Amino acid sequence: MTTHAIPYESQLTPETLAFLRRLPGRLLIGGQWIASVAGRTFTTYEPSTGQPLAEVYQAEAEDVDRAVAAARAALEGPWRRITPLERERLLHRLADLIEQRAQELAEIETLDNGKPLSASKAIDVPSTVDMFRYFAGWPTKIEGAVKPVSIPNRLNYTLREPVGVVGAIIPWNFPLSLISWKLGPALAAGNTVVLKPAEQTPLSAIRFCELVCEAGFPDGVVNLAQGPGEITGAALVAHPGVDKIAFTGSTEVGRLIMKAAAGNLKRLSLELGGKSPHIIFADANVSQAARAAAGAIFGNAGQSCNAGSRLLVQRPAYEQALEIITRRAEAIRVGPGMDARSEMGPLTSAEHYQRVTGYIRSGVEQGAAVRVGAARPAGVPEGGYFVSPTVFDQVRDDMAIVREEIFGPVLAAMPFDTPEEAARLANATPYGLAAGVWTRDVATAHRMAGLLQAGTVWVNCYSQFDPASPFGGYKQSGFGREMGHEALEHYLETKSVWVATS
Ligand code: NAI
Ligand code: MG
Repeated sequence: MTTHAIPYESQLTPETLAFLRRLPGRLLIGGQWIASVAGRTFTTYEPSTGQPLAEVYQAEAEDVDRAVAAARAALEGPWRRITPLERERLLHRLADLIEQRAQELAEIETLDNGKPLSASKAIDVPSTVDMFRYFAGWPTKIEGAVKPVSIPNRLNYTLREPVGVVGAIIPWNFPLSLISWKLGPALAAGNTVVLKPAEQTPLSAIRFCELVCEAGFPDGVVNLAQGPGEITGAALVAHPGVDKIAFTGSTEVGRLIMKAAAGNLKRLSLELGGKSPHIIFADANVSQAARAAAGAIFGNAGQSCNAGSRLLVQRPAYEQALEIITRRAEAIRVGPGMDARSEMGPLTSAEHYQRVTGYIRSGVEQGAAVRVGAARPAGVPEGGYFVSPTVFDQVRDDMAIVREEIFGPVLAAMPFDTPEEAARLANATPYGLAAGVWTRDVATAHRMAGLLQAGTVWVNCYSQFDPASPFGGYKQSGFGREMGHEALEHYLETKSVWVATS
């Protein structure tokens, strides 16, 4: 088995080094850490250098089959017998372990995904802990109801039961925290899981699953099947023993999953892409709004489903807002995630680097004006997937950079005159994930919140997430909601029970 040199070795804690030395990553099936049947592995890369980081066993159809069987056995065996209070305790124990391992998990996330270590520590790991704690509170509060039926001598009540075996397919932009978005509600509701992390970032999922075992979940409640989407993901989606797929990723793959899930009519929740508009009215606190707009597109190097990738500014404030965003883009320090000075890391994969730089080239070729960026940042390691924060203006509706999800630090800016025009431009996209509105006029704020076709509207703020608040898409940004009791609903069935009382 190939082993790779450990990058940034001298900066890593002993626990992270020990984890990396335990690799190649194995599959977790029925509580056993095992190699795949065929023994094939895939490579994950360190994004700041483009060098191989680790090898991980690749789950193929036969391995997925075993993982699903293990999940089914746990569902019908030990997991079914566990009381709601015990389920709650296990989820809290898992949250505690993640919290205790925060430094190590953050280092693993940064090595595999590329994001700054400060972000992994401040955002990814704590939000994961919070999500599990929020959902830990639910098992004892999932209630059915007694229904006031009008048939004499009949008692009717509802039971809420788990959907069954859940396939959780996770992308690479927030590899650890998006696990908690799926597994928090899935486990709280009493389901069992086969987890498939993205092939670009499988490592934090492996460490996470070690903690699941340590927390004391029965064998087979959480199983881990790593591998490429077309192989491992496709096998999971087509498997007749999987009752539900919870997916976050591209709209294109969301569409494929809908088709492939038709065989046994799997339940689906799909959290897909976005092209979210950030709208600044001239009466807003423009400098605050513009700084937030920069954060909304450059945060996580633009690799967020809710990235504010289209900026709409009311004409009198347009130049001022663009000037502030441009200055901010120039000032952002781009560099390796393990360098404490870096504010923005590289993109996560070579393939994605090609995609994002391709979009930047298309913007230039189609005649958009480059306000800043569109070049490789200075002083970054060769071979790393770095792009500069980029702002285009003088864009047209038909340009790819205006229409398509780039998923990189690339902003397309345009002016508008009236609120109606802002709403029309904002909604002129097949996506509908999120939107931001900045105004001091309370009537405009509420009016826009009503007009925008998006699952989330942020007013005078952006990118606020909380485990209690539902998040998800309108239109082709998908369906179903993450977080809140709304998420739990997607992991529960309702059984209506009739009893003759005489
Ligand atoms: P993707 O949609 O291919 O990958 C997301 C997950 O789906 C990964 O775990 C992948 O292995 C899996 N997958 C891929 N093909 C599959 C299939 N046929 N069956 C089952 N699972 C499958 O996303 P990709 O290719 O990594 O990125 C492409 C674009 O998707 C990005 O540029 C971005 O626009 C968008 N995207 C959106 C995300 C979001 O947060 N909504 C996250 C990741 C990507
Ligand atoms: Mg793909």
